[in-house]
Amino acid sequence: MAEHSGSAPVHVVILAAGKGTRMRSALPKVLQPLAGRPMIRHLLACVQQLQPAQIHMVHGHGSEPLQAELAEQKIAWVLQPEQRGTGHALACAMPGIPDHASVLVLMADHPLVPLELLQSMLAAPHQLVLVSMQLTDPAGYGRIVRDDQGEFAAIVEQADASPQQSAISEVNSGIYRFPASPLRDWLQQLAADNAAGEHYLTDVLAMAVAAGQPPQLMQWPDAQSLLGANTQQQLATLERHYQRQQAELLQQQGVRLADPQRLDIRGRVSVGTDVSIDVNVILSGDCRLGDGVSIGPGCVLHDCHIGAKTRVLAHSVLEDVHCGAACSIGPFAHCRPGTRLDDAVKIGNFVETKQVRIGAHSKASHLSYLGDANLGQRVNIGAGTITCNYDGVSKHVTSIADDVFIGSDTQLVAPVSIGAGAFIGAGSTITRDAPAAQLTLSRSAQKTIAGWQPPRPEPDHDTAAGQPGSKSSPQTQKEQD
Ligand code: UD1
Ligand code: CA
Repeated sequence: MAEHSGSAPVHVVILAAGKGTRMRSALPKVLQPLAGRPMIRHLLACVQQLQPAQIHMVHGHGSEPLQAELAEQKIAWVLQPEQRGTGHALACAMPGIPDHASVLVLMADHPLVPLELLQSMLAAPHQLVLVSMQLTDPAGYGRIVRDDQGEFAAIVEQADASPQQSAISEVNSGIYRFPASPLRDWLQQLAADNAAGEHYLTDVLAMAVAAGQPPQLMQWPDAQSLLGANTQQQLATLERHYQRQQAELLQQQGVRLADPQRLDIRGRVSVGTDVSIDVNVILSGDCRLGDGVSIGPGCVLHDCHIGAKTRVLAHSVLEDVHCGAACSIGPFAHCRPGTRLDDAVKIGNFVETKQVRIGAHSKASHLSYLGDANLGQRVNIGAGTITCNYDGVSKHVTSIADDVFIGSDTQLVAPVSIGAGAFIGAGSTITRDAPAAQLTLSRSAQKTIAGWQPPRPEPDHDTAAGQPGSKSSPQTQKEQD
């Protein structure tokens, strides 16, 4: 366990039982994606770093998708059978928390809470800490009401606020630290005598003041990170904030971003020096970009390791691609899982690859499908070449050795092997292995039809009635030869 002020064990309680109706979605609120991950995962990843004694997750009926999503996590699940308010939700978790614990309470719909804030709350000399924030638009949040001396007095929810209270711009972030023992008593005294008819956790703070234990109010400079997401609009605001932070982190590492507002990171990205990224790029999963890599506009990369000086050109989509140095991929390339490219490989426009190894200096420059294939070095794949890897039941492998030249519009019907230095004539359908260093081709002989006439339109019945030769075209007659 990590060191915190005092020796009290830290118990984290995340309130996640609300229905999230304001999202207007069949997906539970806390599973709504933020930067490609369910929003709850951001918060969990953060609190896990505190190494608390226990994380308690308060959930409601119908939370099976949430429990399934977090099945691998070490979490104490607490059922709140009816959604009777945030105070009631926290009360449900209290039986699992010892009296001497320090309780960190978090709302599940605040995904970007910074670790440093939680650490400083736990390091504070005060046992009772409340985080407030100043918002230009405080709508929807509980307002912090102070007395004449400017000391904290109470939190008033929007629905219960007077017009003067509604105008207060200091609001409750929903992040608290409590000493467990008095919290337990206060929660038992909560009543539902408010506009929502709920047990408000926020009423506990006025009880603390009355008991002579006022909270310490903490503010955090980056209020944007503390915002909650009740609605799709608020979630989108958080998404943009997160993306701005990610873009800044990349810029601090020397990445040249054509426009930091037009990049989306949905995972982890590691970069070398002199990486440049053009507009409207999405990087997801685990992406590693080597020194001097450039990513063109509109590219989507998922779980890719891109070697130094490789250029990924406009509108290419890459998933699980590992490539060496100085490759050129795209524009409009689609490299699917299992694509492994050695150095200086070229994948050109409208080329699709899948489960393929391609040796150094090989090229597939135009309009090809290469799937379940092993290509050696310096192979040239002509335009329109296709590996026919699937027979309707199983996948089969195409092997192409070093220095092979495959002519345009060739179909390689797998399983098939092409020997080193072989030359395949354009337009071939290759069904058997082709020997090394020889020309192999399969083509029907070319012929020319003498006396062929271009087709003529059928004469109109009314005007052409009775005209000779109107029954069949010269072409039809010739084809019967
Ligand atoms: C709450 C606070 C408000 C604060 C705001 C910060 C109360 C009464 N109000 O309002 O002062 O400014 O958060 O975002 O606490 N939940 C349960 N069980 C319930 C009700 C809610 O587990 O019965 C959970 C929800 O899933 C959610 C969290 O508690 O994760 C907060 O509930 P929500 O309804 O979003 O509260 P707000 O209206 O945002
Ligand atoms: Ca909320």
